[in-house]
Amino acid sequence: MGMTGHPGGLRGTRKLLRQLGIRPGELALDLGCGTGYTATLIAKKYGAEAVAADLRPGMLALTKQRAAGDGVAGSVRLVAGDARRLPFKDNTFDAVIVESVLVFCDVPRAVSELYRVLKPGGRLGCNEVTALRPIPPDKKEKLAEYFGFRPVVATEAEWTDAFKAAGFAGISSEARPLDWLDIAVFAPIQAYGIRKYLSALVKSVTDPQVRKARWKKSSLTAPRMLGYLGSGLYWAKKP
Ligand SMILES: C[S@@+](CC[C@H](N)C(=O)[O-])C[C@H]1O[C@@H](n2cnc3c(N)ncnc32)[C@H](O)[C@@H]1O
Repeated sequence: MGMTGHPGGLRGTRKLLRQLGIRPGELALDLGCGTGYTATLIAKKYGAEAVAADLRPGMLALTKQRAAGDGVAGSVRLVAGDARRLPFKDNTFDAVIVESVLVFCDVPRAVSELYRVLKPGGRLGCNEVTALRPIPPDKKEKLAEYFGFRPVVATEAEWTDAFKAAGFAGISSEARPLDWLDIAVFAPIQAYGIRKYLSALVKSVTDPQVRKARWKKSSLTAPRMLGYLGSGLYWAKKP
């Protein structure tokens, strides 16, 4: 329905960016930019040059639209790219932001790519689903059914270890339970506007195909995952 989101909601995004300390004139990559909310914010609020990269051309088109609508088209560069092999030279970016993308990736490979494209001293900020406690195998199966593949659902310690293993230093993090109201209501309204939110909501109830998929998925997962899934914010530096 032309909308993307991530576990930390917009509150998570704002905190992630604040703590990354992006400065005017810096070059920042938003990897897996989705519809471009964060890339646009980086350009608009922080005065930085943003590179919005995504695997899917449809997402880049939506990011382009958003950047133009927000008057920062000249500061948001769109790049088709895969986290597994980023189309950027070594030591390119002052900051890299990744929100709800690593869960879909081969984590060691993607994180080492993030490390490669950051300049020495460059900062990484990630906003990823985080297991608040170890997830039993049967619940992992349900998650796999929901996504149609096995997402990476790591604990805060496991994410931290993955960043360390790639060479990152100065790692800090925080994890908290998912805020469903923010993720499902407030964040999409703020990111897309009330009209688009309501029209997506109506579609999710009236379109038989969407309704079937949606209810099948959520009835399988949401109640079972309460208490297990959280959102994690991670900051790290390339030495
Ligand atoms: C859950 S959405 C999050 C989008 C955006 N970061 C946000 O927070 O709204 C995941 C995004 O990652 C992109 N993606 C998934 N795998 C990717 C990969 N290997 N390389 C680049 N982008 C990828 C998807 O196309 C999608 O736009």
